Amino acid sequence: MYVCICNGYRDAEIRDMARSGIRCARKAYDALGDGPNCGQCLAAAQDLIDRVHGHGGAEAPAMVYPARAVG
Ligand code: FES
Repeated sequence: MYVCICNGYRDAEIRDMARSGIRCARKAYDALGDGPNCGQCLAAAQDLIDRVHGHGGAEAPAMVYPARAVG
């Protein structure tokens, strides 16, 4: 599943970055090639990283998009 639509980063790529020792979503993006653009995915990416490192719940978030309606 895609976590970052702007950069086309998938959950597996984010998890691989976490397994390599990265603990920060922004650093994971930098290591993958491009930093965040809109930034709407950062919380979900950080959640994936935290789960790899043993923090957070047992399941990955279902999806990042569609974005929530505001208002
Ligand atoms: S969806 Fe990841 S930076 Fe926009």
